[in-house]
Amino acid sequence: MAFKLTDKVSWVGKIDWELRRFHGDEYSTFKGSSYNSYLIRDEKTVLIDTVWTPFADEFVRNLKEEIDLKEIDYIIIQHSEVDHSGALPLLMKEIPDTPIYCTANGAKTLKGHYHEDWNFVEVKTGDTLNIGESTLTFVEARMLHWPDSMMTYMDSEAILFSNDAFGQHYASELMFNDLVDQCELYEEAIKYYANILTPFSALVTNKIKEVLAMELPLNMIATSHGIIWRDNPSQIVLKYLEWADAYQENQITLVYDTMWNATKRMAEAIADGIKSVDNSVKVKLYNAAKTDKNDIITELFRSKGILFGSSTVNKGIMNATGGLLEMIRGLGFKNKKAAAFGSYGWSGESVKIIEEKLKDAKLEVLESGPRILWNPDEEGIKECYEFGRRFAQQFKE
Ligand code: FEO
Repeated sequence: MAFKLTDKVSWVGKIDWELRRFHGDEYSTFKGSSYNSYLIRDEKTVLIDTVWTPFADEFVRNLKEEIDLKEIDYIIIQHSEVDHSGALPLLMKEIPDTPIYCTANGAKTLKGHYHEDWNFVEVKTGDTLNIGESTLTFVEARMLHWPDSMMTYMDSEAILFSNDAFGQHYASELMFNDLVDQCELYEEAIKYYANILTPFSALVTNKIKEVLAMELPLNMIATSHGIIWRDNPSQIVLKYLEWADAYQENQITLVYDTMWNATKRMAEAIADGIKSVDNSVKVKLYNAAKTDKNDIITELFRSKGILFGSSTVNKGIMNATGGLLEMIRGLGFKNKKAAAFGSYGWSGESVKIIEEKLKDAKLEVLESGPRILWNPDEEGIKECYEFGRRFAQQFKE
């Protein structure tokens, strides 16, 4: 169902309440998501983005109830990933000559996805499209988060159509930031940033500064996923600046995988040691095999210190820990101290392997963590506790 954002702009997207996995299995979406598409009616009519492929039929059917498709003068595709361009093939069957405004990379990627030679109009930062009382200005957002990404600013309504930026995987029929639960909203927004945008943080900062320097009035940020920011929309822009700047809270997170709980006991003893030094620090423990990986990544993103533990298995580490370490290598967290720990039965390589992976992820590893043979006894627990104390002490220096 379409609804109006302003007299000129309507939302014509799809709320996907059922979505639980996104990007294959890379991203958990426990609160669903939405694919936000917008219809602008001025002297000219413009469609911004579409929806994910499985909803193409429904999207085109609903759009026809809203407007005669032949009245659409321009389509803007801000990002060619299939969750936004997926309905294009069906739509273009109905209106094959309609120009598609996108970046040069966007045209290449759309051709790569759909193998169609549609009427592409390539735009770059600063290019404009007058549609009557309003002018649309395009702002490329290369690598935020694909090479083709861009945003569109509509002057008459002071709306920034931000595509993936500032979005959240959060299904809500309430649709606006002032109407939804603020804790849920920010939890989904930070999870989205931590898991998707962290590698591009330097670009996020530069792009936001570039847009802020334009001193554009801003009534609304119309994202392509989740709720639309209309109440104090710059709040999420300021949050992004904070998150992009080697973000950390007063939190230390321990992530471990454990066969028979020896490594778990080590984690708990290390946590006790940390708390004994600083009772104000939030200490969180996660069993990597039992916790959603994207939720763990979000907690690591918040942390100033992170500790990884694993039993040794087959001269290596357990796979849930290995998967997470690979994720943090790719995400490129900044400004975090790290260490490894683990139990073993005979060969005992896990601590060394984890340390190498932490260094590979460019984290600061200052001290080799405890390796405990079999199950920690009283002395082993004390060793872990003292290690936790030394780890926490680093933040006091
Ligand atoms: Fe929401 Fe990058 O697609």
